[in-house]
Amino acid sequence: MSDKVRAEVGGGHAPLGGSGSLEIRDTRTGKTYAAPIFEAGVVGDETIRGMDLRQIKVDSEDFGLMVYDPAFMNTASCKSAITYIDGDRGILRYRGYPIEQLAEGATFLEVAWLLRKGELPTKQEYDKWVHDISYHTYVHENVRTFMQGFRYDAHPMSMLCGTVAALSSFYPQASDIHDPQERNLSIIRLLAKVPTLAAFAYRHIKGLPFIYPDNRLSYVENFLSMVARMSEPKYEANPLFVKALEVLFILHADHEQNCSTNAVRAVGSSHVDPFSAVAAGIVALYGPLHGGANEQVLRMIEVINHPRNIPDFIAGVKGGKGQRLMGFGHRVYKSYDPRAKIVKRLADEVFQVVGIDKDLEIALELERIALSDDYFISRKLYPNVDFYTGLIYRSMAFPVDFFTVLFAVARTAGWLAQWEEMLLDKEQKIARPRQIYIGPGERTYQSKLKPGGLK
Ligand code: CMC
Repeated sequence: MSDKVRAEVGGGHAPLGGSGSLEIRDTRTGKTYAAPIFEAGVVGDETIRGMDLRQIKVDSEDFGLMVYDPAFMNTASCKSAITYIDGDRGILRYRGYPIEQLAEGATFLEVAWLLRKGELPTKQEYDKWVHDISYHTYVHENVRTFMQGFRYDAHPMSMLCGTVAALSSFYPQASDIHDPQERNLSIIRLLAKVPTLAAFAYRHIKGLPFIYPDNRLSYVENFLSMVARMSEPKYEANPLFVKALEVLFILHADHEQNCSTNAVRAVGSSHVDPFSAVAAGIVALYGPLHGGANEQVLRMIEVINHPRNIPDFIAGVKGGKGQRLMGFGHRVYKSYDPRAKIVKRLADEVFQVVGIDKDLEIALELERIALSDDYFISRKLYPNVDFYTGLIYRSMAFPVDFFTVLFAVARTAGWLAQWEEMLLDKEQKIARPRQIYIGPGERTYQSKLKPGGLK
């Protein structure tokens, strides 16, 4: 049996370096199996294939052993060459480049190219990429009128999700996902139009007229122009805000198999068009445990209201009643989130210019207590990227319910790179987990509405 498993694995799969094997003894049958252990070139990423366990059966009628892993705590759903995270050491790299270096020197669109293509763009490639994205920033006028149909108090994430999904009806040819040219055009359209839709959502909740894109501006400047421009003929953004947003977009651009990226991959695996797949990612990001946390951090700070209320709040978090310290903790990082370090430095720069945010004192005190409290230390709960971003966004005058939209604009780059990688991966199929059925066995239908049962 062990040879059979080995032969099957060695036969049809893309190479992951093999090293050793896992011997499994089934005490039900006394049989021993060997599942090859694969290394992906990075220490700590050793895996066995879930399908190898299927060989482990009590008899030939048996379906074979499955893995039960709710919330994918220990399951790799794909191989990816895009983003690398070492959660214990607080390392984040896009295509091998440390996030600190990219945040320091790159532009967001350069990073978007890198994520998708795997290498940094040449000057010529970059210029064309920027040109193409700038060229596609406008949306069909019907999208504009469609957005005006939302209630005045609609959440901008709902508006963004609805309109990105609606874009698929404007570009039906985008469903031809196996045509590289169509795929390229859809990717460019999404990168170009998501900021426009995000800015329109902002103007809608503010009751302001929509501002059309200004394609002479950079990606970030154009976005800020669509958000903030009033009557001035050409909008000139505060250079510090441009720099801060460029860095924040880079930090948020990708984060391997997080909840929303997994949603994009899973939905995209049905071979739906990328507008629909990205809309799924936006909805997943909206949740308070994921991208919605940046909004919740500010709401939490509003509730705390004053540093003197922090001890009570922390006691509530530790009390086990489900209250969480928002902006803390991460599935993968078990040390300080490297993005949070950069954001904290950036926040200092922004606050030096616009003044100290009134809630910064609460945030700093929360962080100080959490980093010295055994509850948080023992669970390795450190500030994540969302802890300080809200404070920066608010000091730039973005409304609280717009924070996650800013995250979505940036993450679109990662979603698209991951979506395309998934499509081109020959090992991927429609994402379809198994379940362990725990409901009733077969029983006879007997209506409780009309007596008599089956006729
Ligand atoms: N505050 C208080 N306790 C926490 C927190 C928190 N923020 N996060 C985790 N814990 C506790 C949790 O109660 C559990 O304790 P116990 O072992 O006693 O039951 C333990 O730590 C492990 O938590 P978990 O829920 O099993 O961890 P997870 O990997 O499933 O959840 C998380 C990760 C990010 C959802 C979670 O840490 C959380 O809810 N954080 C707050 C929301 C947040 O900031 N989300 C943004 C994440 S980073 C950016 C992004 O993804 O968008």
